[in-house]
Amino acid sequence: MHLTRQEEKMLDGEYGWANQVSMKILVRLGELFGATRLIPIQSAHLSGVSYKHMGDASIDFLTALAEGGGKAQTQSTLNPSSFDPTYLPKRYHRERLEKQSSIIDLYTRMGINPTLTCTPYYLREPKQGQHLAWAESSAVIYANSVLGAWTNREGSPSALAAALIGKTPDYGVHQAANRQPNVLVKVETSLKNEAEYGALGILLGKMLKDKIPVFKGLQGSSDDDLKQLGAGMASSGMTALFYHKIRSEKNKLETIAIETKDIKEAASGLCTTTAEAPDLVFIGCPHCSLKEVKSVASLLEGKKMRKGIELWVCTSRHVRERAKNYIDIIERAGGHVLCDTCVLITWVKDLGMHTLMTNSAKTAFYAPTLNEVDVTLAPINECVKAACKD
Ligand code: F3S
Repeated sequence: MHLTRQEEKMLDGEYGWANQVSMKILVRLGELFGATRLIPIQSAHLSGVSYKHMGDASIDFLTALAEGGGKAQTQSTLNPSSFDPTYLPKRYHRERLEKQSSIIDLYTRMGINPTLTCTPYYLREPKQGQHLAWAESSAVIYANSVLGAWTNREGSPSALAAALIGKTPDYGVHQAANRQPNVLVKVETSLKNEAEYGALGILLGKMLKDKIPVFKGLQGSSDDDLKQLGAGMASSGMTALFYHKIRSEKNKLETIAIETKDIKEAASGLCTTTAEAPDLVFIGCPHCSLKEVKSVASLLEGKKMRKGIELWVCTSRHVRERAKNYIDIIERAGGHVLCDTCVLITWVKDLGMHTLMTNSAKTAFYAPTLNEVDVTLAPINECVKAACKD
């Protein structure tokens, strides 16, 4: 890999330990994937925040980086943590909260903005063609496919290293030649709701691995539908980019046809229970857009939650600030609007919750293993109906 004089000095440790470690990570990664140089990035988005998943070892590593002079060189944001600011802290052991706070404080000390959301694009939308280094697979695929930005799927260490150096190795979808679609997906059924978009994503992720699909038959999909489709694809596969509209059928591509029965099977395959009264109803994976918070509020208007069922609507602080009226409606009905966290990265089983209903195929895909709960996948209106009194 060709390095500039300054990059070489960083690698030799002349700019401190944190920069040296970060350069080592980026150069190793670049060499592995055949990059010839580092390129500047417009932003970094970091995963590796929740104490539930990261544990104590991450605190030692982050402390060493912060003490070794680590400072973000580009706009950098953070994925969600294991806690919201008010509701969950009262319900778990204090030590967990202290450890989680230490992780967030260390990132903050390094100049990384503690946004604690997996939808950083609602806060600051990247522009078409901008190079980014984002972790969080659902945000990566959304940035590439819906917003037209250019980012590989970074892991926690490489996104952090890119934030501290302000650069990323030039390989993968940072190069135009690697952004060409190589499989045509004909959706020969009309998808009825966001849960079906997510189920299609899970199905395709398994089939496509890291291929780049172009879709035929998804006209009229909303950004929120595409968010669910991408989050699903990126959960069960390695896809980082899709095209939701076909421009030309001149190039002959491998073709996959999706029919109604495929969607039905994919959706029912994500359900491990049909419990009509789940312990927890969860909307907000990936974190809700303003439009999604509004939908929950309009479905809950004038209703009251059933006894023994909790409703969590997870979103970013940024969206929450803009959704005050909707949040009042949700909270009046007995629901909880949580920022900074989500079901998968907190300890719901410790709260006595064993069954979950969600409109997110990504959550339905992971929760049986990560949370050890049974899951039902259903669209937002059915989720809200299950949570409310008749
Ligand atoms: Fe976001 Fe949690 Fe889903 S971090 S993408 S809401 S698993």
